[in-house]
Amino acid sequence: MVKWFSLIFLWGSILTVAALGLWSCGAGSLPEEGSPDVTVFRNKCTVCHSWPHPKRHSAREWDHYLTLMETHMKNRGLPFEPQEKEIIRAYLHRNARED
Ligand code: HEC
Repeated sequence: MVKWFSLIFLWGSILTVAALGLWSCGAGSLPEEGSPDVTVFRNKCTVCHSWPHPKRHSAREWDHYLTLMETHMKNRGLPFEPQEKEIIRAYLHRNARED
């Protein structure tokens, strides 16, 4: 019972985030488009929802979200290497919104 509800909830959140992502980013492009860092970001961060634009959050908020996303990935059994996390973290910090 509990499992069933949490699955529905999870999918609800995923769909909401996907819809939000589509709404705010459209088919627009990312900063540093074409660089290897953007490729890592795209590969890792579009599995469950569309990519969030780096300007959506400040550097401090990104650290919070990365920790949260790491938990989501662990729960789903998806690999997230420390180097990948570091690349994405640095990329998001360089392009983040001002605090
Ligand atoms: C395993 C699935 C999964 C992966 C992979 C994933 N996310 Fe998420 N993400 C979620 C879920 C589920 C939510 C909904 C909010 C919550 O429950 O935490 C979310 C919400 C978010 C949000 C908050 C909503 C918003 O758009 O502002 C941000 C930011 C975000 N993710 C960034 C990332 C980044 C950056 C990565 C790549 C490092 C990533 N996500 C990879 C599952 C994932």
